[in-house]
Amino acid sequence: MKRLAVFISGNGSNLQAILDATAEGRLPDTSVAVVVSNRKEAYGIQRAEQAGVPVIYHPLRPYRQAGKPREQYDADLAELIAPFEVDLIVLAGWMHILSMAFLRHYPRVLNIHPALPDTFPGTHAIERAWEAFQRGEIEHTGVMVHLAPDEGVDNGPLVCQEIVPIYASDTLETLEARIHEAEHELYVRAIAQVLGL
Ligand code: GRF
Repeated sequence: MKRLAVFISGNGSNLQAILDATAEGRLPDTSVAVVVSNRKEAYGIQRAEQAGVPVIYHPLRPYRQAGKPREQYDADLAELIAPFEVDLIVLAGWMHILSMAFLRHYPRVLNIHPALPDTFPGTHAIERAWEAFQRGEIEHTGVMVHLAPDEGVDNGPLVCQEIVPIYASDTLETLEARIHEAEHELYVRAIAQVLGL
């Protein structure tokens, strides 16, 4: 049995896609062993609880308030998930950059980004792609899954990518929906590939 830890900060639609894939046998012999959220109000926590998956809530704020360094937060996070003995960390909308204080313990970390490699890193990637399309600078966008071996933002060795078309009739909302749909499929495929399923 391969065991995943999924890190979320919000809606958790990618987490849901992964949970569904494990339940439906599209990720055979794989389970989500633990979900980590840095935000208490993340809807993904409810998705995890509904699936019977343990949740760790690990907020950064108390560390900031106590003047503790980010490395301490990350080292504690590594320790909190150690008992779950996971094979792979899956970042699914996790809004923190993991430092080496975490990554040295977990060399296999996957991240998904709603844009193609080397385009629109960071937040609001879909919105920025949409604006670039309006200005005539791009004709399509995409999604990618990459390994996160270091502290780079939305870059690292590519696992897979997929082009997502943008149509003249699109609104930001229709484009977002098409990108998220592509993400949900690509992430499951990428996890299967990395786990050698
Ligand atoms: C996704 O678009 C992902 O690519 C980005 O954050 C979003 C998370 O969405 N890193 P969700 O929480 O999985 O619905």
